[in-house]
Amino acid sequence: MRKSANVTIHADKIRFPVSPTLYGLFFEEISHAGDGGIYAELIRNRSFEDTLVPDRCHVENCKLHSPAGWVSPFEHTDPIPGWYTQIPEGCEAEIKLDDALPLNETNPVSLRVEAASVPHGRVSVCNTGFWGIPVRSGETYNLSFYGKKADGYQGELEITLEDRSGNIYASGSVTLTSGEWRKYELTLESDGDDAEAILAFSTRSAGTFWLELVSLFPATTFLHRKNGLRPDLVGMLQQLKPSFLRFPGGCFVEGFSVETAYRWKKTIGDLSERTSHWTLWQYRTTNGLGYHEYLQMAEDMGLHMMFVVNCGLTCQGRPGEMIPMEDLSEWVQDMLDAIEYANGPVTGYWGSLRAKNGHPEPFGLKYLEIGNENFGPEYNLRYRVFYEAVKEKYPEIVTIWNTHWEVGTETKGLPVEIVDEHFYADNDFYQQYHDMYDHYDRSGPKIYVGEYAMIVDNKSGTLLGALSEAAFMTGMERNQDLVTMSSYAPLFANIHHTVWDPSLIYFDGTKVYGTPSFHIQKMFGEHRGEYVVDSHVATESRPAGLYGGLGVEEKALDRIQDLVVSNGSETLLRLNRLSGSQPQCREFHGTLLIGDPSWSQYDVSIKAILGSEGIRLRLLDRHLPWDKQNYLLWELDPDGESRLVRIVGWSRVKLAPNRKIAVREADWQHMQATIVDDTVKCFLNGELIHEYQSAPIPYLTSVSTLDRKAGELIIKLVNPSPYLLETEIHIHGAGTVPVQGIQTVLTSRNPKDANTIDRPESVSPKDSDFRCDDGVYPLPPYAAAILRIKI
Ligand code: AHR
Repeated sequence: MRKSANVTIHADKIRFPVSPTLYGLFFEEISHAGDGGIYAELIRNRSFEDTLVPDRCHVENCKLHSPAGWVSPFEHTDPIPGWYTQIPEGCEAEIKLDDALPLNETNPVSLRVEAASVPHGRVSVCNTGFWGIPVRSGETYNLSFYGKKADGYQGELEITLEDRSGNIYASGSVTLTSGEWRKYELTLESDGDDAEAILAFSTRSAGTFWLELVSLFPATTFLHRKNGLRPDLVGMLQQLKPSFLRFPGGCFVEGFSVETAYRWKKTIGDLSERTSHWTLWQYRTTNGLGYHEYLQMAEDMGLHMMFVVNCGLTCQGRPGEMIPMEDLSEWVQDMLDAIEYANGPVTGYWGSLRAKNGHPEPFGLKYLEIGNENFGPEYNLRYRVFYEAVKEKYPEIVTIWNTHWEVGTETKGLPVEIVDEHFYADNDFYQQYHDMYDHYDRSGPKIYVGEYAMIVDNKSGTLLGALSEAAFMTGMERNQDLVTMSSYAPLFANIHHTVWDPSLIYFDGTKVYGTPSFHIQKMFGEHRGEYVVDSHVATESRPAGLYGGLGVEEKALDRIQDLVVSNGSETLLRLNRLSGSQPQCREFHGTLLIGDPSWSQYDVSIKAILGSEGIRLRLLDRHLPWDKQNYLLWELDPDGESRLVRIVGWSRVKLAPNRKIAVREADWQHMQATIVDDTVKCFLNGELIHEYQSAPIPYLTSVSTLDRKAGELIIKLVNPSPYLLETEIHIHGAGTVPVQGIQTVLTSRNPKDANTIDRPESVSPKDSDFRCDDGVYPLPPYAAAILRIKI
């Protein structure tokens, strides 16, 4: 099946330089991205704290209950995960967590090993690592731990890397010499390869001893740094040619309670001084990959640094806890100190601490995001305080407003430099709204698309998902005077504990692969060019499909009456009052879903009192679960501010200009919406206030940039359709240019094709020469192509 398309490029019409920071990395401690991931520590549960329940929380039936009532999995049937004993028959031993006489305040429990009887053989306490300790022949491993012994125990420990049947790859020994905590260190060299080895501490004599902070690192870390990173995972990041690193999240920054919020000061210094904490991603982080290491990681990769600071709000969706405004100063001070730690002189307190931690030179932290996905009046208030504090002391720091559920550049009159927008949506969303930024106000803040990914029915990270993102990315590139930064999210997932799909890069202890989205990010990151040039696409398209029923918030039901839905002369539904027991009404998590999700053309009218909360009327609601939700939302605030937006997945796009209408909260308002063909109109008391015409979904999207140094035109073409697109390429303003050069093409036979840990390169780009004598480039179905043409 073929279709034709047309791309016209004016190589001499430069629109603006490319944004040097357009592509960056979003790093979050999620799905073991850090611990058990890029942080090269090989010991799981090294401080024996993995099952500690966070303060003010409780656990019931393997579920953690937060102080605010959020419930999440806490599946620890084993009190000491990662550790087990090997006790030969005839020997007696047990291990348990011990909170008596801990190493220090930040390490509240240790492991007590009581070998009551060892008449023969050896009693061992073993660590399994993060789903296996990977060892390689010839590689050196640096072990350190704190230990102490009870009176009467002679203290000799054999320490081995071995397999589960006792075949030894490396061995050494340590004698515990004291009843007080002491640090012991040992180097082990493996003489074998094993992806799932264990570390064993063995004793051949009876006695009691304790272990704490057991740490094992391969000598080979990225740039051979101590407490460093896995080189293979860093290598994947480097392939993306990123320009900045955002850290450490994501919701990880927010936490679900004050105690689980990210506090950078607890993550620096000697490992024994750091506090671990439970994350909202269902595991405890050691914070071994701490604030200093994030800065170091960015520096070592040559990236700008972006720290996301908790602004005194935990994740409001879980639900949140708020630091009262009168107590906010401690949190504001933490932020200022974070900047001082990163950038201040060694003569100051924080700069000298940085030097003590191994980095006398300032790091050069550049960006600071105030909060993550916080919103509403609570955020606005806190944002202002944080913003003003930064700008007063560090005016050079570029601040970012973390808008999530707001729309675009609406920043409530607050001073904003950059807005962070997040999109987790379906294929159609990214393809249809590829031109979203064409319509944004240029006089407002810059845009950072800080998180985005195609998430609907896309757990494996498919080619089609990647192509939809690519279509959207052509729009970002065409508007990079405005969209100056972006980062796909999340970045990493360990296949053994993945809490969010898709992620960009999956790995286990030894293997790693990128999804098709990884390859798109890499292709776009590698071929940026220097200037965006004028280009136009003519393409066929498919209808976006406007259909769906209605929905209103249940809390507004007693302020709504006289619902009438009709299609021409046919009345589809008439209800004087709304409730879950009325015909064609269904309650769903606080929303009353009304009517038939297959409705397409209709006229709906209600009478409503705005009250103190306003009215939110869902139109064209497909009545889908919340991660796939898809509807238009007409929001009418009590003060008469009216918005028409589209909600898809966890994404929101503005469909028409906001309006402010004079209304009285207590009066009945007449809200009416008509849907005819592809046009939606909203009338308030008879006055047309919003009009939106849904655009069709194009088969082809494109952007062109110029690489002057290389003397090349870079044309990006994205085709998520099932058609081969015979694409006529017209290049103007550069003399006669044959359509030939080098192409990088990502495609596969099936749009649902994905990569896996065993087939990591199933969907991967191919480079080759190309030449189109007739100027018609055959863009395969389900493909993204980047053409480099000499001009
Ligand atoms: O990327 C995963 C999560 O999605 C992030 O933690 C959060 O910011 C967003 O909701």
